[in-house]
Amino acid sequence: MKPWAWGAMRVGGGDTSTPADLAHFLNRAHGLGARWIDCADIYGLGASDSAVGATLAHDPSLRERFRIIAKAGVVWQQDGVHTKHYSNDPAYLRQQLTGSLQRLGVEQVDLFLVHRPDYLLDANATAEALNAMVADGLTKAVGVSNFSAPQTARLNRALGAPVAADQLELSPLALDALDDGRLDQNMMEGTDVFAWSPLAGGQLFNPESEAAHRVRAALARLAGSDDSDAIAGAALAWVARHPANPVPILGTTRLDRLTAQVQAMEGLSLSAADWYAVLEASRGGEVA
Ligand SMILES: NC(=O)c1ccc[n+]([C@@H]2O[C@H](COP(=O)([O-])OP(=O)(O)OC[C@H]3O[C@@H](n4cnc5c(N)ncnc54)[C@H](OP(=O)(O)O)[C@@H]3O)[C@@H](O)[C@H]2O)c1
Repeated sequence: MKPWAWGAMRVGGGDTSTPADLAHFLNRAHGLGARWIDCADIYGLGASDSAVGATLAHDPSLRERFRIIAKAGVVWQQDGVHTKHYSNDPAYLRQQLTGSLQRLGVEQVDLFLVHRPDYLLDANATAEALNAMVADGLTKAVGVSNFSAPQTARLNRALGAPVAADQLELSPLALDALDDGRLDQNMMEGTDVFAWSPLAGGQLFNPESEAAHRVRAALARLAGSDDSDAIAGAALAWVARHPANPVPILGTTRLDRLTAQVQAMEGLSLSAADWYAVLEASRGGEVA
């Protein structure tokens, strides 16, 4: 069973609306191989962290079995902030992690990620703050999300070691990471990779999208089924097939879908030609 992550961005929907429901959902997810819960301060503007925290309080055994990811770095528009922006400011990141720890009801997370690269980043100052978060026990490790390969390299140099993890977008409909150097750099540095929105945030099932239609057809051939969860499972297997070993972060809040999709993923072993058939379907043409 390959470990995967469940994302708390859409918590509250489907079968996750109360702490008891979410505890049941996560216990079932754990049985299917989920080992990470992916959180962020911005999800529900803190409400997502609070829902996960209430669930960990409801069933404390979950904290022993799941590793928790926290993220911060996106400043939302609110009183006193007139423009949504990114901030990798040392004091801001620490304040946001501290807030997440309080809402989650834990003393430490397993991974803290800088959610978005700040164009105004002072790499040395941010690296010092990240190293202090680890030294002070607020997080076991630090990483990045949505950074370009050079942005990560710059932070790595300031940190004095490669980041532990990189969370990037990867799905049959989001291919940038294949060619822009992030996956290659992560493999060279030994950085763990997490793939967000592996079903393109549900766009894989958009009936209006021609690319999604082509990709669904290619995935259905591999899955041997037109069932949408079988197709989703094939998409997850496609993401996980990359040699960077991306850990897919599943976003569904429905237990029936989660179960069927993970089982479909587990049941598939993709050849190189299988994998390229999905790539071609996404691009709308064969490789040169
Ligand atoms: N680092 C970042 O910048 C970043 C950005 C985005 C997301 N993330 C993380 O990645 C996680 C996953 O992202 P995601 O939720 O976009 O993942 P996803 O798995 O690509 O998409 C989940 C969406 O697809 C829908 N869906 C799933 N199966 C379906 C089916 N068979 N038919 C129709 N719709 C279906 C789900 O609806 P139901 O719930 O109704 O099944 C849900 O709305 C997030 O929770 C978050 O933790 C990180």
